[in-house]
This record gives sequence, structure tokens and C-alpha cells, in this order.
Amino acid sequence: MPQRIVLTGFMGAGKSTVGLHLAAALGWSFVDLDVEIVRAEQKSIAAIFEEIGESAFRRIEHLTLAQFLHQTNLVLALGGGAVETEANRQLLDESPGTLVVYLQAPLDVLIARCEQQQLQPGAAHRPVLDRRLELTERFLRRKPLYESAHWTVETNNFDPAEIVKRILTQWQQHTASRL
Ligand code: S3P
Repeated sequence: MPQRIVLTGFMGAGKSTVGLHLAAALGWSFVDLDVEIVRAEQKSIAAIFEEIGESAFRRIEHLTLAQFLHQTNLVLALGGGAVETEANRQLLDESPGTLVVYLQAPLDVLIARCEQQQLQPGAAHRPVLDRRLELTERFLRRKPLYESAHWTVETNNFDPAEIVKRILTQWQQHTASRL
């Protein structure tokens, strides 16, 4: 029986929104890895990228992920690039009780969602989104890594409540098949 659900997918997949709803539905805690990094470093993700660079950010991301894979009854939203770090994939693979769910959508939909989100007051700035020329490459590079999740859930044209419903239905079927 899974003890934590890890949500993965590109920027704009809805990991944080769906994660919050899913945790509420399960009566579990919700943690957003980026929020934890910002809290620990006392800096925005954009400032971390600017000041120490992406690879240093990835090291912090890895250490932060490792801290949460011991917590039970937890829904954890990863940052979109966390899957690219091999050590993160290994941690997830070797973490008993961790169910990884990929929230999937086409790249144009993801970019449109991110652009929409950036218009919101106080929205976190996504440095990776600025590097437009690299976006498709990043997406294609990550795609097979996302797809190696335990479950894939289509998110295009569905609101967060519907996506949560789909995850919970799959969860019930999974649990029933193990009874
Ligand atoms: C990143 C995605 C962001 C954040 C950082 C890098 C990426 O998280 O971790 O800006 O490389 O795709 P979200 O996927 O939550 O936006």
C-alpha cells in the first residue's frame, strides 16, 4: 500500500494544484519541493538560479527530496526538472511505498498554462521558462523519464478536481486488486 504519492511532470502540469487537492482528499500532508527549497534557502528559485546556477540548484533539490522520502501520508510535488537528476530517479526507485504519478499534457498546453500563471500577482518566476529555445529540448529529454512513473494521468482539458478523481479511482482499483 503506497505511503506517499510523488507528482511529476513538466512546468505547468498542475503538480502543486493537483497535489494540494489530492492531499486534502486523502487527509494527507502536502509538500511542494520548490516551496521547501525557497523556505530553506530564504531565496526565490529565480534568485538561486541567478546566484549559484542551475547545477547548484539541482544539488539542493536532491538533498531536499531525500528529506521527504521518509515521510508517510504525504503528497509531494516535484519541480519539473527533478527527474533529470539521476540520483533523484534512483532515490525514487529505491523508496519503498512511493508511488510516482506523471501529470501529462502537450508542451504547447503546458507553456500556455505557465504563461497564464505568470500573469497572476505574486506568481513565482520560472527561470527555465525564459530559456525558450531550450524548452522543447528539455521537454523531449525529460519525456521518457516522466513516462517511467508508475502511473500516467492525462491532464489536458481536465480541471484539478477531475484529475484528483482519476487518481483516486486508479488508487481504489489498485487497492482492490491487492485485497
Ligand atoms: C524547473 C521547474 C520548476 C522549478 C525550477 C526548475 C524545471 O518547478 O523547480 O524553476 O527545470 O522545469 P515547477 O515544475 O513546479 O514549475
